[in-house]
Amino acid sequence: MSVHTSTDGSTPARRPVTIHDLRAAKARGERFVMVTAYDAGSAALLDELGVPVLLVGDSLGMVVLGYDSTVPVTLEEMLHHTRAVARGSRDALVVGDLPFGSYQQGATQALASSVRMLKEGGASAVKLEGGGAIVETTASLVAAGIPVMSHLGLTPQSVHQFGGFKVQGRDPAAAERIIADAVALAGAGAFAIVLEAIPAEIGRQVTAAVDVPTIGIGAGPHTDAQVLVWHDLLGLTSGRLPRFVKAYADLRSEIAGAIKTFQSEVADGEYPGPEHTY
Ligand code: KIV
Repeated sequence: MSVHTSTDGSTPARRPVTIHDLRAAKARGERFVMVTAYDAGSAALLDELGVPVLLVGDSLGMVVLGYDSTVPVTLEEMLHHTRAVARGSRDALVVGDLPFGSYQQGATQALASSVRMLKEGGASAVKLEGGGAIVETTASLVAAGIPVMSHLGLTPQSVHQFGGFKVQGRDPAAAERIIADAVALAGAGAFAIVLEAIPAEIGRQVTAAVDVPTIGIGAGPHTDAQVLVWHDLLGLTSGRLPRFVKAYADLRSEIAGAIKTFQSEVADGEYPGPEHTY
């Protein structure tokens, strides 16, 4: 179901998705998806397919730029890709991830980075990882008119503190902290909360505790929405994948087949044929 569905059940003409549509979708009990995007072409396709939220995730560091983690990603790199996604999309809500080091110094730094994300990147919202000190920063951004998506659980920018990409919130104290952080972030004005790699029961409890949508990735079936990384969703990622990933296509094999056919047709002189020749 579309987040654009009107209250009388009719399907209105498409218009830009807002943060209010997402909250209304939660109130109606309608689940939705968010997909990551890093370039104009994929953003245009996702937008055309009615995906309501495009996240320019700092996962781009790992799936596009070849870093080992998201830690090295810079604000300039995020802006470069966010601009492309904003140019490619029409109606989807474009959320730009603030990379590591661009907001942890506090509200002033976060505001400067977020303003760049909206003015130069063309995003409509920013995403920040963490609870605790980030709650106050979130409140400052929201007070400045900047929509904030939060991110709790396995926050990949803290990979070195976690000692790897590990499931979070397994012990009762950590679970309580995640729930308390979510309530505090929603209270500070966050319009949605990403929950990554936590037990399904904690995903359920957070979702029940806040009236803003929770967007799960490895957080079980009870969240209001689900997000996947473009490359994982389409089977473009190689190597060992987290348990939560479901590949809905095997584009890696499709691409391999196409490239092999191209190579052999060129070697055999089959391509280019007369129909491809001036
Ligand atoms: O960077 C990213 O793509 C993300 C999602 C996995 C939620 O933060």
